[in-house]
Amino acid sequence: MRFQFALTLQAIWTGMCHAAMQHYPAAWGHYDVCKSQVYSDEGLTWDYMACQPEAADMTQFLKVSLDPPNITCGDPPETYCALENPYMCNNECDANTEELAHPPQLMFDIEGRNPTTFWQSTTWKKYPKALLVNITLSWNKTIELTDDIVITFESGRPEQMVLEKSLDYGRTWQPYQFYATDCLDAFTMEPKTVQDLSQHTLLDIICTEDYSRGYVWKYDKTVRFEIKDRFALFAGPRLHNMASLYGQLDTTKNLRDFFTITDLRIRLLRPATGATVVDESSLSRYFYAISDIKVQGRCKCNLHANSCVFDKEKLSCECEHNTTGPDCGRCKRSYQGRAWSAGSYLPIPKGTANICVPNNIGPVKCNCNPSGSVSDHCNGTGYCTCKEGTTGPKCQECLPGYLWENGCKSRVCDNELLRCQNGGECVSNRCSCPASHTGLLCEKPRCESELGGCKGPESGQASLRPPSLCSVLTLLLAGVALWRETPRRAAAL
Ligand SMILES: *[C@@H]1O[C@H](CO)[C@@H](O)[C@H](O)[C@H]1NC(C)=O
Ligand SMILES: *[C@@H]1O[C@H](CO)[C@@H](O)[C@H](O)[C@H]1NC(C)=O
Ligand SMILES: *[C@@H]1O[C@H](CO)[C@@H](O)[C@H](O)[C@H]1NC(C)=O
Ligand SMILES: *[C@@H]1O[C@H](CO)[C@@H](O)[C@H](O)[C@H]1NC(C)=O
Ligand SMILES: *[C@@H]1O[C@H](CO)[C@@H](O)[C@H](O)[C@H]1NC(C)=O
Repeated sequence: MRFQFALTLQAIWTGMCHAAMQHYPAAWGHYDVCKSQVYSDEGLTWDYMACQPEAADMTQFLKVSLDPPNITCGDPPETYCALENPYMCNNECDANTEELAHPPQLMFDIEGRNPTTFWQSTTWKKYPKALLVNITLSWNKTIELTDDIVITFESGRPEQMVLEKSLDYGRTWQPYQFYATDCLDAFTMEPKTVQDLSQHTLLDIICTEDYSRGYVWKYDKTVRFEIKDRFALFAGPRLHNMASLYGQLDTTKNLRDFFTITDLRIRLLRPATGATVVDESSLSRYFYAISDIKVQGRCKCNLHANSCVFDKEKLSCECEHNTTGPDCGRCKRSYQGRAWSAGSYLPIPKGTANICVPNNIGPVKCNCNPSGSVSDHCNGTGYCTCKEGTTGPKCQECLPGYLWENGCKSRVCDNELLRCQNGGECVSNRCSCPASHTGLLCEKPRCESELGGCKGPESGQASLRPPSLCSVLTLLLAGVALWRETPRRAAAL
């Protein structure tokens, strides 16, 4: 019964809102549902969709390690000076006193505390020997980055630094980006910015001077790796065309891999000095201090899971579609009837699940909607032959002007969900509109369909109506989708 209601809503939505929804792509294309129930001649069956977990703050799930391991300040205790004032040396680091210690965990604690908490290295006592530190962040799980990596330095930003990534649990490393006050001098690379990149050069590794320059570090504390600007090369400046990005990610493995990591490594090569020469009489001014690292992403589950759990110190996908493995990267043992493949973002917006099928499966049935199709007969490519008024691969959607009622019935209005607007009357399930309005529900001012459009104060108001009706339907549908999925999503990340 509730199901019927969902299908009816779906039908209304399909009929009424499809055109209007083109302007609201954010409402769809989340890939947050892996399966939903549909009617077939076998009763309720599952319809499978491509799905992925929501993006989350990934720093909660990492392990951090430092090289050299004893590079954190405070053992033995030492004093350090302010970078901008060598005579201000009243800061102390002591690993054995909680208030004066600066262990690595403080890079991942809650921000907004006063005073700020941060990790800090020893000072540059051994100058001119380089002060080198590697900070390695490991997830022991493939994750996909969804937002910029942002590192906040509490002292000046380093004058030379490399961000590296690994895709194979730390066995091999590739640079992500180089950072320097002088790229040519430090890495013999031409300085570039992310704005210099295009769709064709998106995978190029660049050296940037954007996050190292200047001595005004009190206001410029962050070093970024720009994920969103790279996404924007496909999805448009405000990421409004995610469909284009998803389409590209689907079809280009290199692009997908570019945003995928198992580990990150921050190689600090030279601290901020704030001047052209290092003041050897005051080396306690030079050190690294990081108050925050942001890494937003999602577990990579190959579009076969919409949740990822952290259990026994380990992230793993909760695989659907009869897949298994930490990334849902293979078929379950008795479901190897065809080769495993990742789900696909295409076609937008629901994608393709590419489920694993049982071993020794016979001919595949179509699961056509019994009320919508002529018979459960496939035309050879998985499509059903639909009755009048129905459409879609499984004949479960109604064409505009039809409503679901054990099949798609030519019915436009009723006195409950679909009321005629602007004074129209529902006569035999069709709206009889006043002279001023037209449209299935009399929702359009008649002048809109005439050349030149509407003039006068009424027009703006009227044209707002269909989308708001659609928003309501969309919300209802989303609610129904949630209701269907609630038990599975309780543990979602
Ligand atoms: C860290 O340990 C190494 C070897 O154990 C030692 O040579 C080095 O001086 C230590 N560094 C610091 C800053 O204590
Ligand atoms: C940091 O990583 C680099 C590159 O992998 C390596 O050569 C170096 O020995 C590591 N340790 C330090 C302290 O730089
Ligand atoms: C990483 O995960 C695997 C299981 O997927 C586990 O066997 C291994 O011990 C983990 N490694 C670390 C360093 O936690
Ligand atoms: C695996 O496939 C079977 C049969 O298609 C289905 O009943 C079962 O729910 C599937 N399991 C999962 C976890 O999707
Ligand atoms: C089956 O139907 C679909 C959708 O109507 C169509 O695109 C496809 O070409 C058809 N295939 C055959 C073999 O008729």
